[in-house]
Amino acid sequence: MVISIANQKGGAQKSTLTSLFATAIHYGMVKHKVAVIDVDLQASLYRSRAKELEAVMRSETEKKKLEALTEKRGSPLYPIFKCSHQDLRNKIVELEGEGYTIIFLDLPGTLEASGLDTVYPLIHFLFIPCYTDLKSQDSTAQFIKKINLILKGNQVENNLIDYAVFFTKYTTNSKLKDYDKFNTIRNSFNAVGINILENGFHESKVFSDNFPWTVMPTMIDTRMQKINPEPLFMEMFTFMKSKTTK
Ligand SMILES: Nc1ncnc2c1ncn2[C@@H]1O[C@H](COP(=O)(O)OP(=O)(O)O)[C@@H](O)[C@H]1O
Ligand SMILES: [Mg+2]
Repeated sequence: MVISIANQKGGAQKSTLTSLFATAIHYGMVKHKVAVIDVDLQASLYRSRAKELEAVMRSETEKKKLEALTEKRGSPLYPIFKCSHQDLRNKIVELEGEGYTIIFLDLPGTLEASGLDTVYPLIHFLFIPCYTDLKSQDSTAQFIKKINLILKGNQVENNLIDYAVFFTKYTTNSKLKDYDKFNTIRNSFNAVGINILENGFHESKVFSDNFPWTVMPTMIDTRMQKINPEPLFMEMFTFMKSKTTK
C-alpha cells in the first residue's frame, strides 16, 4: 500500500508526520513492514535520517538505547530511500516484492514540480494536511481539484482508493477558541463529500530540526505525550481499512 501525506504547501508538516507515522509503525503501532521513499529533490527526510543516526552514534547512552530497541523489535531500522520520480514506479514494485506492505512517499510541497503527474497515480491513500484558516481551506480545495485532474487525465494507471483532509499545526487552545471555525471548515468539506478526519496534529516547539523523528519511537519522549499523534495515525489506519476490506 502506497501512502502519502501531501499538499501544495511547504512547511505543512508533511515530512514530520511521515517520519512520525513510519516510526510508529516500525516500532509496533500496527503490524506492517514499512519503508519511506523521499521523492523531494531536497531530500530533507533522507538527510535527516543520516544526521540523526550520526547523533545517536556519538552518544553511548543513545547508542545503547537504540540497540535495545532494535533487539526488542527484532529487525533493523526501516529504510528511507531517495528516489527520482522517473525511478519511483520501479522502486515501489521492488519494495513490494521485498515484502514492504506500507510505503510512504514524501513529496515536495508543489504540484508544479516536473513529474508529479506520474507520481500521484501511484498512491493508494492520500492524506492532506490543512491549516485551520480559511485561506488554507481554499488552497486545499484547489489541491484536490488538481489531483482529480491529474488522475482523470491518466488513463494508464490510477491507484488512488481515497483521500482525506486533516487539520495540522493547531494549538490545543485553538481547538476550543476556534470551535466555530473548525466546524465551518468541517461542514464545507463535508458538504462537497470530502472526508475530513476527527484528529489533527498539534503545534509544538518539540519539533526542532534535530529532533529524532526516524530513529527512535517518539513516544519514549515525555514531551511528546501531550501532542501524541497516534490517535491521528490510528484514525488514518481505520480509514484505509474501511476502504480496503469491502
Ligand atoms: N507540530 C508542529 N508544530 C510546530 N512546528 C512543527 C510541527 N511539526 C513540524 N514542525 C516544523 O515545521 C517545519 C516544517 O515541517 P516539515 O515536516 O518539513 O514540512 P513539509 O514537509 O510539509 O515542508 C520544520 O522545521 C518542523 O520542525
Ligand atoms: Mg517535506
